[in-house]
Amino acid sequence: MRVKKAVIPAAGLGTRMLPATKSIPKEMLPILDRPAIEIIVNEAIESGIEDILIITNRGKGAIEDYFDFAPDLERSLEKSGKLDTLEKVRYPATCANIYFVRQKETKGLGHAVWCAKEFVGDEPFAVLLGDDIMVGETPVIKQLIDAAEKYNASAVGAQWVSDEAVTKYCSLKIDELENRIYRVSDVIEKPPIEKKYSNYAILGRYVLTPEIFDILEKTPPGAGGEIQLTDGLNSLCKVADMVAVDFDAKRYDTGNLIGFMETTLEFGLKHPEVGPWLREYIANMK
Ligand code: UTP
Repeated sequence: MRVKKAVIPAAGLGTRMLPATKSIPKEMLPILDRPAIEIIVNEAIESGIEDILIITNRGKGAIEDYFDFAPDLERSLEKSGKLDTLEKVRYPATCANIYFVRQKETKGLGHAVWCAKEFVGDEPFAVLLGDDIMVGETPVIKQLIDAAEKYNASAVGAQWVSDEAVTKYCSLKIDELENRIYRVSDVIEKPPIEKKYSNYAILGRYVLTPEIFDILEKTPPGAGGEIQLTDGLNSLCKVADMVAVDFDAKRYDTGNLIGFMETTLEFGLKHPEVGPWLREYIANMK
């Protein structure tokens, strides 16, 4: 198995970040000077992915513009000798083969992934959610690709979460295969706490085999009236092997106010120029 393609669903309405997301895609909200989605694209590139499909929707045009050239801006930067900035501005347009498809109707994450069917064809592929940033030594999607290749299986990124988070995300029924890798036999979306299998929940990263498309086509709307990827994964793990990788990285959910602040603050503290200033600013704050 070799994973060369990735899909980034970025068609959601971003209601938790309104009103900003009324006219700015939440995936374009800046983490310091880069939009969140560039950090996610980089994770895919660093994991050996060559082709990336971003699933968009109405009002998400800023994402397409960002991954395109900006001739007037580039000429102006070149003329004024701002070559470092020019390089940063050109990077998104040159970093990978990036394609776009519109979801057209916001029918849920399962439906968004289904929209990648023609792009993916008959190959395993990676999925990286457009609002989840992962920071670890080895890119998280690479950790999943390695496990998927080793077990010839689909793979989901998982971590141990609180009871409260299980009821908001999902719960995995798992058996250990080796340190940090588990076989998945059931997935339940947003269970009431007495119905949880474990405190392992899927968080934002997947390697899927193309059987998922036929499954998603037949998956009825689930929680919240949306076609849930989790419901499709539950069917997939019944007909093909699936592993959960307890990935070694910190996850930042940039799609809600506190998660967004946490990401901005931690990226700021680690930034070579901003970090020392920010520490001092916080220490001296009244
Ligand atoms: P979320 O539920 O976190 O995103 O979906 P959302 O729906 O935009 O957020 P809120 O709840 O309204 O604030 C996870 C990922 O799936 C994408 C989102 O863009 C996000 O990256 N998604 C979700 C789609 O692409 N299409 C959908 O129909 C739903």
